[in-house]
Amino acid sequence: MTRPPPLRWGVLGAAWIAERAVLPAIRAEGGAIVALASRDRDRAQALARRFQVARVGDGYQDVLDVPGLDAVYIPLPNSLHARWTIAAAARGLHVLCEKPLADHPDAGRRMVEACAAAPVALAEAVMYRYHPRMEAVERCCRDGELGELRHVAAHFSFPLAPGPNIRWDARLGGGALLDVGGYAVGAARWLLGADPVRVAAVVRRQGSVDVQAAAVLDFATGATASVAVSFQAAEHQRLTVVGTRASLTVPRPFTAWVGEALPLELERDGATTLIPTPAADPYRAMVRAFTLAVRTGAPLRTPGADGVRTLEVLQACRDAAGGVGAG
Ligand SMILES: NC(=O)c1ccc[n+]([C@@H]2O[C@H](COP(=O)([O-])OP(=O)(O)OC[C@H]3O[C@@H](n4cnc5c(N)ncnc54)[C@H](OP(=O)(O)O)[C@@H]3O)[C@@H](O)[C@H]2O)c1
Repeated sequence: MTRPPPLRWGVLGAAWIAERAVLPAIRAEGGAIVALASRDRDRAQALARRFQVARVGDGYQDVLDVPGLDAVYIPLPNSLHARWTIAAAARGLHVLCEKPLADHPDAGRRMVEACAAAPVALAEAVMYRYHPRMEAVERCCRDGELGELRHVAAHFSFPLAPGPNIRWDARLGGGALLDVGGYAVGAARWLLGADPVRVAAVVRRQGSVDVQAAAVLDFATGATASVAVSFQAAEHQRLTVVGTRASLTVPRPFTAWVGEALPLELERDGATTLIPTPAADPYRAMVRAFTLAVRTGAPLRTPGADGVRTLEVLQACRDAAGGVGAG
């Protein structure tokens, strides 16, 4: 298959995830990073040197104003995703926005509306869904190998060190639910192919942010899901889908870094079979799919509208918990 022509990108913010994963993926996929900006010009220049970016903007808007850009990557704090996505759409730029799509479903809906009106593509950077092993999980769920799906259990925790971090700041859209809850809730919605009709939840807070949450989601199909996230527990990620015939477990489902090739665990009639999966860079696969969507109009696998529905469930968890917590 011929590759679509490379995209010309702008980047807003010298974020950790940009440097660590997404800018390398854009370059590896042949994209041209044309301009970037940071609140700190020295940091922007250092990043520009590292990724051979010709232009350092005077602020984020300056990047959006660069002529000839196709797309913008937004790895800003969650509470800034809406403002800068809407500004990018106003300039006719396609948007790859970091997860979660926004800090509230209303903000997410405004982003979707602005991008639809432009019209430009809006993708949420939910990279794990682009990993071939997660595509294998999706196939297993869809092709009936597990039988009728009854339950999804999704867990994502890690100990978040005290200190300056956007995740500790409610004004920036911090908290465990927004940071990692979207992975767990989104995986349940994706694999069950539906949105929950009701939720029950416990949310614990520390200071201004939620640090631990557990929720049960109820689906009209009869399936249920349990999700648990924490900033105050050992690093642990696991996803299990239980059907009427078999179950499938994915170790470290959400952050498959390059080189990790962990097998899936298929359990049937008390026997466990390990299913090998390839190592892959999910960020590259995501950038490739986004490029294809922009160039050819191919449907996005993680469109903004999907991110809004995940935000709605996260908000329902907060509402259901009713402020229950300690801290
Ligand atoms: N998909 C993934 O694998 C993944 C992994 C980690 C994080 N993320 C998401 O990516 C986004 C950034 O996360 P990160 O871990 O990379 O965080 P980070 O390093 O703190 O990056 C956030 C960037 O936002 C900019 N910024 C603008 N206003 C800010 C403010 N008032 N306070 C702090 N920073 C501000 C800063 O860039 P300048 O100072 O350079 O302007 C900063 O570098 C979040 O939405 C997060 O959920 C995604």
